[in-house]
Amino acid sequence: MKKIDNLIKKKNKSKIVCLTAYSKNIAEILDKYCDIVLVGDSLGSVLYNYKSTKEVTLQTMINHSKSVRLGINKSLMVFDMPYNTYRNPNEALKNAKIVLKETKCDAVKLEGGKKIIPIVKTLVKNKIPVMGHIGILPQTDKKFKFKGKKTHERNRILNDAEYLESAGIFSIVLECIETKLSKKITQKLSIPTIGIGSSVNCDGQVLVIDDLLGLSGTKLRFVKKYVNLKKIIERSVKRYKSEVVNKKFPKAKHSF
Ligand code: KIV
Repeated sequence: MKKIDNLIKKKNKSKIVCLTAYSKNIAEILDKYCDIVLVGDSLGSVLYNYKSTKEVTLQTMINHSKSVRLGINKSLMVFDMPYNTYRNPNEALKNAKIVLKETKCDAVKLEGGKKIIPIVKTLVKNKIPVMGHIGILPQTDKKFKFKGKKTHERNRILNDAEYLESAGIFSIVLECIETKLSKKITQKLSIPTIGIGSSVNCDGQVLVIDDLLGLSGTKLRFVKKYVNLKKIIERSVKRYKSEVVNKKFPKAKHSF
């Protein structure tokens, strides 16, 4: 697993760049600039308007991942295991094997702390690389509030991170974890932390691609919109419509 070794070696040297992708054309662009491309179950809300990621199925994730795979050459492709597909070690192993075989991804990501340790250990024992995910857990949390305000919560999150590292994960997503706590976790672990809404202290950053491109209309505090692609696409479609209606497209050069 050269890609994973190289990723771990980046800790304390250079920042790790990660974005989500759900299809080939976007993945092809991300592959040039990202260390990790994550096929996130965020596609449930981003593409399907689901109220929660609970509705995302394994098959939907596999279909999108097959498309993403076509765009990826060099970066590490991580498959987000959807809700109810890793409730126990046997179920997780069975599904992760299907995922690896069908999508040729490099690793899977699981949400959760201490509770999922036996699951992580089983996958790792079977040579399936696992990325962890703590802080806000979109698959199971009722409220999406930042984590690490109270002492008992801070201790639990730090313990979870350490347990997961001991269980063999190669990296961990920290979602909306308070700044000092994300720093502490990053310092304590020898594997890279990838933050989303968890400050610059993490070893790397991840964002949902549609948010960064201005396609999703999200107003979340931790998102930075780098471009308003929605506006750009709209302008092009409007021009196309006008040219079709006014018989300016297609021209002779577009015809046979
Ligand atoms: O599903 C997803 O896109 C994620 C990232 C935001 C970390 O889990």
